[in-house]
Amino acid sequence: MKKIKKIAVLTSGGDAPGMNAAIRAVVRTGIHHDLEVFGIRRGYDGLVHDDIFQMEAESVAQIIQRGGTMLKTVRSEEFRTEKGLEKAYQNIQKYKIDALAVIGGDGTFTGAKIFGKKYGIPILGLPGTIDNDLAGTDYAIGYDTAINTVMNAVDKIRDTAESHDRLFVVEVMGRDSGLIALRSGISIGAEAVLIPEIEVDYDKIIEKLSKNTRKNKSSRIVIVAEGDKDGGIVVAEKLKESFPHFDIRVSILGHIQRGGRPSCMDRVLASRLGVAAVEGLLQGRKGEMVGIVCGEVVYTPFDRSIKHIDKIDENLTNMVDILSL
Ligand code: F6P
Repeated sequence: MKKIKKIAVLTSGGDAPGMNAAIRAVVRTGIHHDLEVFGIRRGYDGLVHDDIFQMEAESVAQIIQRGGTMLKTVRSEEFRTEKGLEKAYQNIQKYKIDALAVIGGDGTFTGAKIFGKKYGIPILGLPGTIDNDLAGTDYAIGYDTAINTVMNAVDKIRDTAESHDRLFVVEVMGRDSGLIALRSGISIGAEAVLIPEIEVDYDKIIEKLSKNTRKNKSSRIVIVAEGDKDGGIVVAEKLKESFPHFDIRVSILGHIQRGGRPSCMDRVLASRLGVAAVEGLLQGRKGEMVGIVCGEVVYTPFDRSIKHIDKIDENLTNMVDILSL
């Protein structure tokens, strides 16, 4: 095994609160182990176009509390091409970079898998996505902050929904995953949560909303994940057909969910994963995502980490029904 002396870090894909804390942890752990550490701006695009710079402990001062990513991020089209991969490899050689730490989601890890295999570069991934749709970690960096953002926003919507006796359909992020919808839905006492992993049973939802078990119930909130096949607007239209007397409004929360100061949990998670990624690389690990499962650091091959399907816990989906009477 080649001795690792120089490592580089990048963020790629959608940004997530806590990515800065992860960058900080990678840089400082690298320096702690006497490595030279480079930052790559704008994800894999920066690797292709040589937007690479040396980082010191000072470079990551005062970023742990900041949302977004100081390294910036893109979803690189060029890195998907043979030519792009070749240019990226030339820059790896130019800076004599021995290993990479990449922070992102499934797209980031798919790129890492291909690049690492093709050129024999050790790469470890840190899960950074508000969607939390990766296997091999209980939580991804950014998820906790995002669900708290949704919870705080929907608490405000509940106030106005109560005042006007309205039904709100709130669409939250999650392209292929209902995990933001599910946990935030439980936290705000949603009447129903619609997620892409489970086929929507409109009859059941309509029966639930018709029940009126509590006479004084005046507001209703239905949370819809962005990846639901209908989406918030169509869901609202369908509900209006069954409940013409309901005053229905739609609220699409959008990119507010991706910003903001990372929560304490996200900062600690990102710090742990950053340390574990650098130490994993030094131990000779590669082609894996570092995660935390039941409190323990685990390494999961990229191939497996990008399949999140086992993450929906039926106990949580059942709870939505039981608790929102
Ligand atoms: O993957 C994170 C995510 O926020 C998804 O939930 C959402 O579908 C997507 O990114 C939005 O991407 P963009 O910022 O490119 O519109």
